[in-house]
Amino acid sequence: MAVSYLKRDSSRKQEIFSQEDWSSAYCNVERELDNAELKLVKGSIPTQISGTFYRNGPGRLERGGRWVHHPFDGDGMIAAFKFDNGKIKLTNRFVRTKEWQEEEKSQKFLYRGVFGTQKEGGLLANAFDVRLKNIANTHVIKLGNDLLALWEASSPYSLNPLTLETNGISNLNGVLKNGEAFSAHPRFDPGHHEIERMVTFGVNTGPKSTIRLMEFSNEGENAGSLLSDRKDSFNGFAFLHDFAITPNWAIFLQNAISFNPLPFLFGKKGAAQCLTSNPNGNPQFLLIPRDCGKFAGEPPKSVNAPKGFVFHHLNAWEENEKINVESIFYDDFPSIGPDDNFRKIDFDQLPEGILKRCEINPAENTFNCSTLSNQCCEFATVNPRFEGLKSRFSWMATAENKVGNGPLQAIKKFDSLDGGEISWSAAPRGFVSEPIFIPSQDLNSEEDDGWVVVLVWNSIRSGTDLIILDSKDLAEEAILEVPISIPHGLHGSWVES
Ligand code: CO
Repeated sequence: MAVSYLKRDSSRKQEIFSQEDWSSAYCNVERELDNAELKLVKGSIPTQISGTFYRNGPGRLERGGRWVHHPFDGDGMIAAFKFDNGKIKLTNRFVRTKEWQEEEKSQKFLYRGVFGTQKEGGLLANAFDVRLKNIANTHVIKLGNDLLALWEASSPYSLNPLTLETNGISNLNGVLKNGEAFSAHPRFDPGHHEIERMVTFGVNTGPKSTIRLMEFSNEGENAGSLLSDRKDSFNGFAFLHDFAITPNWAIFLQNAISFNPLPFLFGKKGAAQCLTSNPNGNPQFLLIPRDCGKFAGEPPKSVNAPKGFVFHHLNAWEENEKINVESIFYDDFPSIGPDDNFRKIDFDQLPEGILKRCEINPAENTFNCSTLSNQCCEFATVNPRFEGLKSRFSWMATAENKVGNGPLQAIKKFDSLDGGEISWSAAPRGFVSEPIFIPSQDLNSEEDDGWVVVLVWNSIRSGTDLIILDSKDLAEEAILEVPISIPHGLHGSWVES
């Protein structure tokens, strides 16, 4: 079953999408709003939904006529959609990073971006400037009384969860050293060890890399306090964007990747553009025992992993002494070279993301890998109550076509028990982003009871729509017009109230 959102224009024939429609989402966010009500254009907002959908992503892509080289170099802009009794109100703010404030004043790019954005003045101005611009643009989560804007190569920025005012860079009450790396992909343990925990990590990378695994309380008066902390070192350059958890393990996939810093040092490339796949390398699962689990204090295990490149994992669980982890695999590291224009990328030339499951046998150092679905996907999620447990259902953004690469235009619900799937589609002129699962508050609810909210770029009106779907059958509950235009974004989270 596929449900379409925007009517097909017959003059477009078989064209699934136009490059122009897709790239029209790359624009600056021009306004910051306080509690602006969204306009309902279809359906109604379920009154049972109460809380805030926070979302982060690049909001400033051009300054003084110059564009970032890659949207991931755009400054973080937080949008907070507050659901209250059948209404939704938006507050949005740029994260006032030190660098954003300086660049706002001068109306120029003053810093190099990790993904290749150069400051003015050519090679000479860029060579040997190795300062990292913390753009706080990747994820936004609530921990204790703080809202944290995350960017993995440095420390989080703390914001007021209601007003989105920036409090400043945070060391989490002394947990982090000044500017210490802190992942943009925390995992929320829903209570496998009595209380809810936020489990996360930081990577100090180099020829030898160190992972710092941290667990914070995420419940009650002590929410935000550090519960456990361990460090483990591995040989090789680690590029770890995401990880997965089970009650006993933190699971990382160390891709076989090489880093040659010279083009970065000489001002020719951004640091992230210096990453290349290493076809002769050995990808490894790194399994780190959690301090609250039954292997606490034991050394980590390293197990062979399939070739390919992974940014994001879906979920993981333990079964019969084996660990299952589901991840989105690419054949190769998808990069945008120094001469490429990100607004004109050819999707056919880039590898697509494929959802696979690996069953890891730590005792025998082996794995079994199977493909769950061949459709290009990203941003997959489970019901957060099933984080770390065997889950049947997942929701994800997919391309419109069943095979090959393409922009994300549909939301899919996938049933891993029988391979069944249903989709809601915004094609041909709408482009989806990360779906956020809002679980039902009903105590007797089933795994797939709740809603999915997603921001969609509506290229017909060059604006952003917020869509609410029933998570069970992906029926459209409501379509709302967002009063600002928000570029294709990154990650978000749901905070109940
Ligand atoms: Co990510």
